[in-house]
Amino acid sequence: MVFKNMDTNHFFCHDLPSFPVPEKGKILVTGATGYIGGRLVPELIERGYDVRVMVRAISPADKERWGNGKVEIVVADVLDVDSLRNALDGVYAAYYLIHSMLLGKEEFQAADKKAAQNFAKIAHEKKVERIIYLGGLGDTKSALSPHLRSRIEVANELMASGVSVTILRAAVIIGSGSASYEIIKNLATNLLVIPLPHWAKNRCQPIGIRDVIKALVGVLETNTTKDISFDIGGSDILTYGEMIQKCSEIFGKKRVFISLPITNIKFLAYTTSLLTPVPTPIVRSLLEGLKNEVICECDALEKILPYQRLSYAETVLRAMSREEQDRIHTRWSDAYPPAHELALKLSELIPPPEYTSSYSLSTEKTATALFKSICEIGGEKGWFNSNWMWQLRGAIDKVLLGVGTTRGRKSASTLRATDVVDFWRVERLEIDELLLLRAEMKLPGRAWLEFRIEGEKVKKLHIKAYYQTQSFFGKIYWYTFLPFHDYIFNDLIKQIAKKS
Ligand SMILES: NC(=O)c1ccc[n+]([C@@H]2O[C@H](COP(=O)([O-])OP(=O)(O)OC[C@H]3O[C@@H](n4cnc5c(N)ncnc54)[C@H](OP(=O)(O)O)[C@@H]3O)[C@@H](O)[C@H]2O)c1
Repeated sequence: MVFKNMDTNHFFCHDLPSFPVPEKGKILVTGATGYIGGRLVPELIERGYDVRVMVRAISPADKERWGNGKVEIVVADVLDVDSLRNALDGVYAAYYLIHSMLLGKEEFQAADKKAAQNFAKIAHEKKVERIIYLGGLGDTKSALSPHLRSRIEVANELMASGVSVTILRAAVIIGSGSASYEIIKNLATNLLVIPLPHWAKNRCQPIGIRDVIKALVGVLETNTTKDISFDIGGSDILTYGEMIQKCSEIFGKKRVFISLPITNIKFLAYTTSLLTPVPTPIVRSLLEGLKNEVICECDALEKILPYQRLSYAETVLRAMSREEQDRIHTRWSDAYPPAHELALKLSELIPPPEYTSSYSLSTEKTATALFKSICEIGGEKGWFNSNWMWQLRGAIDKVLLGVGTTRGRKSASTLRATDVVDFWRVERLEIDELLLLRAEMKLPGRAWLEFRIEGEKVKKLHIKAYYQTQSFFGKIYWYTFLPFHDYIFNDLIKQIAKKS
């Protein structure tokens, strides 16, 4: 099996003691655009399974990403019962890898419960034989955070379905592109003095992403795991403070740790989000989870599926090396922001945006070279001479609870449709011709940035900013920033041509 953008030498499940059972039937992976689902799908395909992925919105990159037609893609929303019927039809086993954390504290619990109820009902109706769910670790007898409580609620709803359910409960998942890893790494590497609230003394059993994937695949292949809840964790139990400390040591940074008297989660989530690429709602849910000790209560799965669990240091080292090699396969930012269904595409706007500014340049460089340079903008490499302006705008965005420029990008060299680039997201990508980015920063309107390459021998490179607003403040915003466009975009277009 050949996967584009995926190094096939690095599948995780080769040392699993279980054997593939593709003859059992079709496997549905929900949350396939997410961090876990995106890594599970290639493993299942590699082991010969007939996989159907469920996505809320289909992107042109999806087919290519999942092996060019080898995977069936269905569009369904777990909050829409009718669409679920289609997704669950003829399925043997379904992975439930969905959560709505990005909706924020007020909405995610109710949405997650309703989603699980819908899924359970239709899975039963469609005679699905197994549901495999990845939830959160946490002592059910203690006062759990809303996030962990919600994970348990989802498990209960699925178990009430009448379908055979296997539950895997994991604490912090560490791996390249995981939100927890990026938070820990950014705190450990960006701060000289690291303040720790008192609950940083709580203990946790982090697990590496590869061990999670092995467990997800292994339970599918082991009948005796039906109707059981398993705790899964790595080989170390550490306090959260120790996790940050070990991470700073691995990155070769000497850090001073002080105790922080502030315990207000809202404030801590906000400041942590400012210091890391991860948005406040995700940080907040994760921080709330730190108030609980999250340690495996039993090791039953290790007995059924014995394989070498990684230590915390090993998982950090692996994540670090994946980042260095620019081989991050999925990232927390892959899942769409909550309003993605409502995000109008530029081509759908009628009439087209009223406010535009265009910049062009003729060059002898090839379309391939130009496109490569265009696809490398943002992230660590930045935005050339005007980078400070983008960073400033990104910092303002973060303060306003937006995504900011620190969100970065998954790969420094390649882009796919729906990838994020700082505070933009790829809306359209046509190789060697067009890259269209949609703004996800806080704006009093909608904005897009288009890079287009035209011409035969001599190429014409165009950059065009589009902006649509109806509000008075929106118009003031456009005219305030218009004078800066000349500097920013003229520099951008020249530097792209120069670098190509
Ligand atoms: N990552 C961790 O550290 C961690 C730790 C312990 C347990 N877990 C559990 O693992 C599971 C997967 O987590 P993850 O990190 O992969 O999450 P993620 O990256 O945030 O992905 C969430 C997925 O859910 C999908 N989704 C959200 N609402 C949906 C809806 N209404 N209908 C259909 N799909 C919907 C999203 O699709 P869109 O792209 O359309 O938004 C996305 O694919 C969750 O149950 C989580 O609790 C994760």
